[in-house]
Amino acid sequence: MSTFTIDTGTSRATPSPVPGKRMTAPSIRARKVDGKTEQPIVMLTAYTMRMAQLLDPHCDMLLVGDSLGQVIYGLPSTIPVTMDMMCAHGAAVVRGSWHALVAVDMPFGSYEASPRQAFESASRIMKETGCAAVKLEGGEAMAPTIEFLTHRGIPVIGHVGLTPQAVNILGGYGARGREKREAGKIIADAKAVDEAGAFCIVVEGVLEGIADDIVGEVATPVIGIGASARCDGQVLVIDDMLGMFERTPRFVKRYDDLATRIGEAARTYAEEVRARSFPTADQTYRPKP
Ligand code: KIV
Repeated sequence: MSTFTIDTGTSRATPSPVPGKRMTAPSIRARKVDGKTEQPIVMLTAYTMRMAQLLDPHCDMLLVGDSLGQVIYGLPSTIPVTMDMMCAHGAAVVRGSWHALVAVDMPFGSYEASPRQAFESASRIMKETGCAAVKLEGGEAMAPTIEFLTHRGIPVIGHVGLTPQAVNILGGYGARGREKREAGKIIADAKAVDEAGAFCIVVEGVLEGIADDIVGEVATPVIGIGASARCDGQVLVIDDMLGMFERTPRFVKRYDDLATRIGEAARTYAEEVRARSFPTADQTYRPKP
């Protein structure tokens, strides 16, 4: 079981600034009015308390994505991600944020069997993390589940196009919708998720024109990743945009090269330890005068 507040006396956490009002599912949904979004929605993934603290002031939403399977746990895909993982990281991100809406991904196998299974999983995620929404993958097939959840107090983010939990059906992580039939299906998926009551929809890895069509055809905000600049908002995996990995998908823009900087810091530390030049007097305790 998790706590929702940071105990600054026992952790390294920096206290939250003046507590403000968190973004809510209705406030995100209300950003798109009559098909137009004046202020694009900013979303990043976060998996840890400290990263959530750093991202929170800049984001409308933080997504505890099941991409944590690959990013944090080194798993080959999102398929093995568990409810326990999502709950632990979801609670950490809620503890490290005060402004952004925190949404937690429902892991593979936790919601597809029935709306009832989805409710049990989503309610556990919300109780144990304090998050305000869940995200699940799938279009027309998941519409009854999205409707079931939203009618029972659980805000849902849809996810269509390239759906990584379906990698074994899709055969890889390439962009979707190159064939006319599949393009039509992705648009139908987005419409079904919209009509089922999702308060926003992630559209991932599709040809730009498909994303543009979806933005124009659904009432709810569309959050793009590998989609289109015309989406109502954008999301990226934080470790990708910070340059933590050597290989990233084409749609990622690297805003930093943290992998290189971390490697350099570790190399300098190792050299200083081996040369006995760390620690110095500044980093050692002496008797008080
Ligand atoms: O798991 C994740 O990080 C996601 C984003 C890529 C949208 O679903």
